[in-house]
Formats: sequence, structure tokens, C-alpha cells
Amino acid sequence: MAQGVAGSSAGGAPAAFSVQNVAAGKMAAIAIRLLQTVVLALAAFPSAAWAEDGYDLWLRYAPIENATQRDTYRRAIAGVVVQQSPATAAIVSKELARGLKGLLGTEVPAWTSVNGDGALVVGTAASPIVSALGWGMVLKELGPEGFVIRGAQIGGRRAIVVASAGDRGALYGTFHLLRLLSTGAPIARLDVRETPRHQLRLLNHWDNLNGSIERGYAGRSLWKWEELPAIDPRLHDYARANASLGLNGTVLNNVNANARSLTAEYIAKAAAVANALRPYGLKVYLSANFAAPTSIGGLATADPLDPSVQKWWKDKAAEIYKAIPDFGGFLVKANSEGQPGPQDYKRTHADGANMLADAVKPHGGVVMWRAFVYDASVDPDRTKRAYMEFVPLDGTFRDNVIVQTKNGPLDFMPREPYHPVFGAMPKTPNAVELQITQEYLGHSTHLVYLAPMWKEFLDTDTFVKGPGSTVAKIADGTLQGHRVTAIAGVANTGSDQNWTGHHFAAANWYAFGRLAWNSSLTSEAIAGEWIQQTWSRAPETVQAISTLMLGSREAFVNYTMPLGLHHLIGGDHYAVMPENDDKRRLDWSATYYHRADAKGVGFDRTRAGSGAVDQYARPNADRWNDPRTTPENLLLWFHHLPWDYRLKSGQTLWQGLVAHYQKGAEQAAAMETAWTALKGAVDAERHAAVAERLRTQTTDAAAWRDKCLAYFAQFSGR
Ligand code: GCU
Repeated sequence: MAQGVAGSSAGGAPAAFSVQNVAAGKMAAIAIRLLQTVVLALAAFPSAAWAEDGYDLWLRYAPIENATQRDTYRRAIAGVVVQQSPATAAIVSKELARGLKGLLGTEVPAWTSVNGDGALVVGTAASPIVSALGWGMVLKELGPEGFVIRGAQIGGRRAIVVASAGDRGALYGTFHLLRLLSTGAPIARLDVRETPRHQLRLLNHWDNLNGSIERGYAGRSLWKWEELPAIDPRLHDYARANASLGLNGTVLNNVNANARSLTAEYIAKAAAVANALRPYGLKVYLSANFAAPTSIGGLATADPLDPSVQKWWKDKAAEIYKAIPDFGGFLVKANSEGQPGPQDYKRTHADGANMLADAVKPHGGVVMWRAFVYDASVDPDRTKRAYMEFVPLDGTFRDNVIVQTKNGPLDFMPREPYHPVFGAMPKTPNAVELQITQEYLGHSTHLVYLAPMWKEFLDTDTFVKGPGSTVAKIADGTLQGHRVTAIAGVANTGSDQNWTGHHFAAANWYAFGRLAWNSSLTSEAIAGEWIQQTWSRAPETVQAISTLMLGSREAFVNYTMPLGLHHLIGGDHYAVMPENDDKRRLDWSATYYHRADAKGVGFDRTRAGSGAVDQYARPNADRWNDPRTTPENLLLWFHHLPWDYRLKSGQTLWQGLVAHYQKGAEQAAAMETAWTALKGAVDAERHAAVAERLRTQTTDAAAWRDKCLAYFAQFSGR
């Protein structure tokens, strides 16, 4: 297997040198000794046939069919030289061996120096070859996670160089180059410069210590808690997949956190995971239970202003950092859905967050404090509550606190307006929380490509600083100048062989990672590259799958909750239940949200209603206050309208509703037909698995239509 080997490096430079690895938020200069030249041991991979069970995700590296292109690539990449610190160098070398063998159908040897035309050099700024190129300024600008990929002449030889200021950047650049090859990109005049838009790009795993996953639809927890600290080899493939997207952190446990995750026993388990993930650039974070000082610490209180509580957390942080020196920090769900929090002691969210922030600060950690709160005593409209609790706290959080907010003000519905907290707390870094797992979007049974939903959110103009104040610019810190920027996705991975249950659910993991890296990528572009790497490069196949994916989110909205309807769901959040009248909480009921009666349907959030519109900046507030200027896809989110209200199409509201439900059911059926036509164009094994789920989706879509229309017809009388 490939590994970093101490020895003389390519240009005859000394064998040892050090690079600075700057950890986010803290300057930890880690001396890296060594050497650079890495033996590229080419593992034997079966050349053509492998089980198409989805395990390889988008890292299949299927042979390039086009012979001309393959030959061009072979000429351009005849040997590989890797010069970076050993743990990551080993990963880079192994990935290149695997990827190039798969794509080019030939083993590309490891070279110890650029000794011929067609060298592929991967290195950090400290590597002798890269430092001799004089790219230092650019690399510094792009940072330790950024990279360049460019052609260069090295000692009169033709080379392609993947270079970065840091190990992580060189790793990300390697995956980027493999993606370019996989998608048939021209490489004659490569001039790639990339740097991530968000500093912290995290998966949030809602994994419980008993191995179950909250809202998980693809099996059990990948961590195998009971076996840790023994590491399941599968974790390396999990890490590879994340590194290929540039994700750099992972929260191991559920936000509904079991305090035991902070005991010595579980810290040791988390440390084992951290050790396995570290070479891939992934830091580990933990969800913290706010009551831990009482439940596992033996204290009488968890009051954040109590010195014994503060000390308990400081000691706990020190204990964690001893085991995991690069621990990322805590994610906290407090005073939400029964979770403990500072308000139990009449303290604010800022009091709670700041106490934890002080505990991790000396170690360079952050606290991601979730804004997913909806205390019924705050306001009768659930969607207003988080804003009302958090916005007044702006400016009172420590500088290592990030307020983590879901994209919409309710809860990961198929369509919501953006959360009004975005832009309304200019002094507080605001992390975006997206849900990759399809809690309200058909679980891992329905094919729903989520990139269009996330792009709709990221591209929305909040107008908080005039036109062009998109959510994306708030999230990436450019609009309001935040020091820390973060984006989190609630993971959809599990122990299923294909990781995500539905083969197409992997596209959502992929899309989240790509948008976390660069939120200006389009849904189309992301789908295109995912399809080529995952299914096929044949243009007509790519086109057909892309069309199917790009229409899938709107289809889902149409057959479940069109025109701004929301939460018509019950039980496990799969079942169609417009009649759901949850006795436990009004705001868990469908009837609370749709408010259907003989006169009409929808939630009045105008100034005449709950007034939620005024949590948005003008002109959004004014526009959404008036049904005529509200986008029709959010109509019933903001308005309660009569059944014969005229839509722009000229149809009545009732007719429009019928048309949307009907269209959605037809779209689902059309997706199934389109997939059937792809039989033979993709491998039989995965084709059959997807076909089976699309069958269910078509049936479910018709059931949604029938049940919702029958239900609303009782009120509309139509
Ligand atoms: C949703 C979801 C819960 C989850 C919660 C959260 O309400 O149904 O399972 O715990 O969101 O994000 O905290």
C-alpha cells in the first residue's frame, strides 16, 4: 500500500522540512517532518467488472470509453509525484492509484521526481517541487484548503501540478482533478483556482448511542459505537467520500444528545473516530446535552452562571481536547422539543452558549448553538418564535459562537421561505443548517434531488443590505463580514451497502458537499457531474437522468404540499395526513398550519394575521403581505385565501390546487417511465433497485393527491 516514506525528495532537497498547518480558529503549528516522495504502490483493482451496489458512490472511476480522450489523459499523466505530509500523502497516492487505474485503464507509476513528460505533481507549498515554482503568493491567498491545478514546465518536462498551502488543499485538489478526468474535462490548459466559500463544512449525524439514527432511512449508525474504539474499515470510505467534496467536519451524535457521549468511555470512542478521520481533513465535533453537569457530573444544577457548572464544562473541554487535540467543538440543541437549556434556569441562549464557548475557547473550539426553538409561549405563530428569541441577542454572543439556523422558519418542509433570522443578526455568525436526509421529502423511498431547493434558498434576496443581499452571501460571510462561516447538512448516511438507502439519495450528500464548497454552482452542473461519475457518461443517458432529477423536487411539492401548503404530514413524517390533529402540540398538527374551513385555506401571516411577514426586510415584507405580489409557490404560507381566489393562471384557488396535485402525480409517474426507458443504459442491479422505489413513489404520489383533494373538498365544497 502507498505510504509516506522518509527519504530524499525530488529535487535533491533535504529530506526534512516543516509546513504550518493552520487549524480553523487556532494557530496550531504542527511540525511535519518529512519527506515527500511517496511510493505509489498500485493496488490491484479488477479492471472492468465490479459489483454495482452503489458502495463506490461517485468514486467509481469507471473506464473512460472515449479512446482519444483516454489517450490524451494517459499522455498528460504518465507518472505521479506526491510531496506532502505522510498521512495525507498516503491517501492521495492511494486515491490516484485507484482513480487513474480505473479511469485510464493502466497503472500510472509513482515517480520520485519529474523524470519525464507527463508528471502529475501533488504537493504543498513546502514541497521542493512546488516551492520552486514560485506560486507562494497565490497559494497563500487561497489558504490551506484552497488549491491550484495548472500545467507547468518542470526541468523542461511537461507536468500538471496540484498545489496547496496545506495538506487538506492538496487532498481536495487531487479529488478535483480526478473529478475533471471522470467528467471528461479538457486538461490541455488547466488553470483551476479553488478555495471554499465556508470555513466549516460539516455533516451533522443524528446518530444515537444505541446505533439507531433519528430520521435516518439507510440503516444503522456508521460508527458502530459498541465496537469503538475498534474502527470499522468502512469509515475510511466514508471519509474519502467526504474529502472528495471538501467537507471538513462531522458531528458524531444526535442533537437530541445523550449526555453519556461526554463520559470518558465515549470520549475515547470519539477519539478513535477522530484519529481515523483526521488524515482525510475531517474534524470531529460532538452534540452536547446541556444538562450533562447534573446527569453525568453529579452537580445539583446546570445553571450556566453557576461557577461550579462553568468549571465542570471547562474541565470537560480539557478532557476532550486531551483525547482529541483538534476537536472541533460542540453543537447544541437547547430548550427545544424537551431538551434542557439555559432557560431552565431563567438564563438566555447567549448565557448558555457563552459558557460553553468559554470552555472550548482556549483550545480553539467553536459552539454551534441551534436556533431551532419554538416555545409556544413566545408567539402563537410557530414560525415567528426563533427570530423573536434570537434577534434581540445579537451582539451578545462570544466570538466563537455560531448560531446554526435551518433554512426555513418551520422545519425542513418541501418548500418554505428562508428563515428571517438570516441577515437579521449582523453581529453574529449564522450557520446554515440543511437537511440531507429526506425527513419530510419521502425518506429514502422517493427520488427527490434537493439541490434545487437549497439553491432556491441560497439565492433568495433578503434585501437586508439592499438588493443582492442573498442568503448565500450572508452564509459565506461576505455580506456582513463574519469571521467564522459554517454550513451543516443533516446526514443521510447509514450502514446500508449503498450508504443512503436510495441510490439517488447519494446525490443529495454529493450536492450538499459541492454547495458547501461553492454555493454558486448550479443544480444542473452538480447533477451533471454526479451522474457522470455515478451512472454513465453517455450524453443521452446523462441528459435523461438529469431531467428526471431536476424536476423531482417540484414534482414532490406538487403532489404533497403545493402553493405554500406545509406540514400536511403525520406520524413518522412520511404519511399523508392533512387531517392530522396532534393532541400533544397544536404546532405539530397539520390543521394548525392549513386552517382549511368553508371560506378558504392557508395560514395568514400578513399584518392582519400573525404578522410574520414583518420579520423580513422590505421589500420582501411588503410583497409577501399582499397575495398579489407573493410568489404563488408560497401563497398559502403567507395567506388564508378563499377557495375561489383567482390565481395568475385564471384558475380559482381550488382549481389550481387540483391542478398541482394532479400534475405532481403525473410527474411521479413520468419519472418512473423515464427510468424504465433507461434499462440497459445503466447497470441492471442499480436500475432494478431504483425502479422498485419509483414504483412506490408513483403509488404514493397518487395517494397524496387523492387523500389531500378528498380532504380539502370537504371544506371547499367543490
Ligand atoms: C425535527 C425532527 C426531529 C429533530 C428536530 C431538530 O423536528 O423531526 O427529529 O430532532 O427537527 O432538528 O432538532
